[in-house]
Amino acid sequence: MIVELAACAADVRSQAACLLQEAFPQAYARTAREEVDKVTASPCIALGVMRGDELLGMVSARPQYGVTAWELHPLAVKVSLRGRGIGRTLVSELERRVALLGGVTLYLGCDDERGETSLGGVDLYDDLPGRIAAARAWGSHPMPFYRKLGYQIVGVLPDANGSGKPDILMAKRLDA
Ligand SMILES: CC(C)(COP(=O)(O)OP(=O)(O)OC[C@H]1O[C@@H](n2cnc3c(N)ncnc32)[C@H](O)[C@@H]1OP(=O)(O)O)[C@@H](O)C(=O)NCCC(=O)NCCS
Repeated sequence: MIVELAACAADVRSQAACLLQEAFPQAYARTAREEVDKVTASPCIALGVMRGDELLGMVSARPQYGVTAWELHPLAVKVSLRGRGIGRTLVSELERRVALLGGVTLYLGCDDERGETSLGGVDLYDDLPGRIAAARAWGSHPMPFYRKLGYQIVGVLPDANGSGKPDILMAKRLDA
């Protein structure tokens, strides 16, 4: 069942914080609760997939250009339950709700800090268009997941996380 995290009890919000810590240990080791508070506050949308009392995954988005372009962040599915369609379910429902609120574009940044894509560890100022056209990923990097859902690479911020560690911007046009 899909729920709005803003309307959920404290226990579910605690599970959301644990999910973020599990999925992004470096980013949210100490700040997961604050992040859950942020993404469940207006004007953000935050959704969760529940099985009984258990939160299996979560996603959020925030409007960034009026209501037309929204940034998806964060998205996390329990490690033990990945590959079962939960991520797709969350993003599809998020897209539907964002479109209803006037969203035309949903976009996200998927950093490559561990050399898990062909855009990491190279000089992106050398033939950036060619490198974007040939981009691929391996390991657990989410680029292939987003591509399966129709997202395209629309830009790259070279060295965003340090030399050779770019942020990869992906976006999708939403159905009206
Ligand atoms: C990315 C993430 C949310 C995907 O969730 P998920 O529930 O495992 O994904 P789904 O099962 O819905 O996958 C949908 C499709 O993408 C594919 N896919 C998912 N992750 C993939 C990966 N890393 N590489 C290649 N394909 C992948 C699935 O095989 C599936 O393909 P199919 O429709 O042909 O069967 C999950 O792996 C996760 O929580 N990762 C850690 C946090 C993270 O990276 N978040 C995104 C930050 S930008």
